[in-house]
Amino acid sequence: MNSPIHDYFFDKTAFDSRDGAYIHLQQPNTPEAPLNVPEMLTPDKVDGDDIYYTLTAQTGSTQLLTGAVTQTWGYNGSLLGPTVLFETGKTYHITLKNALNEVTTFHWHGLNIVGPYDDGGPHAPVYPGGERKITFTVDQPSATLWLHPHPCPETARQVWNGLAAMVLIKDDHERSLNLPADWGKNDIPVIMQDRTYYDNQLNYQKSYDVDGTLGEYPLINGTLNPYFEVTSPIVRLRFLDGSNRREWRLHFSDNHPFTQISSDGGLLPQPVEFDHLMLTTAERADVLVNFSDYQEGDVVTLQTDDLSFLTFKIGKFDPEDLNLPETLATIPDLTPDDPEPTFHTVMSGMDDEVRLDGKLFDMQRIDTRQELNKVALWEVTNTNDMDDGMIHPFHVHGCQFQVLKRDGHDVYANEHGWKDTIGVNPGETVLIKIQFTKPGVFMYHCHILEHEDTGMMAQIEIYDPKHPVKYHLLSMDEMMHDPTKK
Ligand code: C2O
Ligand code: CU
Ligand code: CU
Repeated sequence: MNSPIHDYFFDKTAFDSRDGAYIHLQQPNTPEAPLNVPEMLTPDKVDGDDIYYTLTAQTGSTQLLTGAVTQTWGYNGSLLGPTVLFETGKTYHITLKNALNEVTTFHWHGLNIVGPYDDGGPHAPVYPGGERKITFTVDQPSATLWLHPHPCPETARQVWNGLAAMVLIKDDHERSLNLPADWGKNDIPVIMQDRTYYDNQLNYQKSYDVDGTLGEYPLINGTLNPYFEVTSPIVRLRFLDGSNRREWRLHFSDNHPFTQISSDGGLLPQPVEFDHLMLTTAERADVLVNFSDYQEGDVVTLQTDDLSFLTFKIGKFDPEDLNLPETLATIPDLTPDDPEPTFHTVMSGMDDEVRLDGKLFDMQRIDTRQELNKVALWEVTNTNDMDDGMIHPFHVHGCQFQVLKRDGHDVYANEHGWKDTIGVNPGETVLIKIQFTKPGVFMYHCHILEHEDTGMMAQIEIYDPKHPVKYHLLSMDEMMHDPTKK
C-alpha cells in the first residue's frame, strides 16, 4: 500500500467558503453516552432464500438531552431504525407501514431495484395508517446503503425528525476477505447527523435553512456525545453522512491513519489509506482503523474540522497487523455504447434559486430516457458561482455508477469503486459512466435535502424496448393525499 494521503478535504476552497448562515458544530452539554449501535432488523419469517421484513415509520420519544425527552421519529422505534441486512442472491418481501399522521415513502438509497414504486421515491406514497408491500431479489455486491423517506417536498423535515436507517448488503466475496464483521464490536455504523434542540425539542421550521438545514450538535447513530469502547485491534467504521446538508471532514484527533475499503456501492478495487476524508450528504465510506498502536486506557477522538464528535476509549486486545489484499474487488470496466457523453445535466443556484437543468422538479415530467443495460457517459456540471458557490452532492437512484474524470482530471483516490452520490465542486464537471440494470422511472438530484425538496431534482425513464411500460406518474397533490380518504 502507498503511504497515507494527507489533507484529503476534497475541495478545501469550496468547503471553506461558507456563507453567514453556516452553523459550526459544538459539543453538546450532556454527559457522554455509549454509542448507539442500531441492532439488526429481525425477519418476520425466513423461508429458504425468501426473507420477510416489516418496517413501520412511527413517532416516539427519545432521551437525548438532560431533562425532558425529545419527540422523535424512527422506523420500528423512536429514532432512526434497525439495521436492515440483505444478502446478495436472496429475495426480500418487505411490508412498509406508516404509523405517522402524514404521508411518507421508504426509499432504498443505493439499491438496484425497479422504479418508481419499489425504489420508494415520491411515486410510492404510504398514507397514514396504510402499508405497501415490495419484493425484490438483491443482485449487487456487498455494500453499505441506507433507507430514508422521500416524499418531496417533505423529505428534509422527515429525515430531520429522525427517519433514516443503515442497510447492509453482504456477499460471499466479502466474507472471503475476512474483514471485521462482528456487529457492534468491530463492525460499527457511524451515521453522522447534526441537530439543534429548542427546550429539548426539534423544531424543523425554526432550524430551517433553504440552502440546507444545519444543526448545532453532532448526533451520531442518534447518540449525543458518544463514546465507543475499542475491544478489537481492527475496527470497521461504516460512515454514512445522513445529514440534511452538512459535509463531514473526518480525521482523528492525532491524525491517526485509516484505510478506506468501500465506497457507496461496495468494495473499492484497492484499499486507500488516508488521514483525512470528506463526505458530502448521503455518501458512505467504510474504513478500517487499526488501533494496535494505542495502549489500554488511551483515548482518541474522531473530529470534523476541530470538533470531536466520537470518542474511542481503548480497551484490552492483542495488537494485529492490517493484512489486506492488494485487490479488494474487481470493478467491471464497462464499455460505453457511445464514446461521447450522451447526457449533460447542470446543477445551478443557491437558496430558492436552485435548479436542475434550469428547471424545478415536476413529478409528471420525464426529463430524459436511457435504454435498459445501455452503458452511457454523463457529464454532471455544477455551474454554481454565486458567492464562490457550494458543493452539490449529485445522486442517481436505481444504479451504481463509476466516476471517470473531474474537470478532465483524474478522480480522487477513493473514487475508483461504485458510487451513487458524488460531491460536485463549484464550477466543476464530473464525467460518470452509468448503466441501469433495472427498468423504471428514477430520480436524480442534489442530495442537500432542502435543495431536493425545493425541486433540484429530475427523473429518468429506463426503458426496455422489448417491454414498453406505461407508468402512472403521480402528481404532487396525489402523492400528498390518500385517494381513499377525503
Ligand atoms: Cu437518498 Cu433520492 O435519495
Ligand atoms: Cu436514492
Ligand atoms: Cu444542492
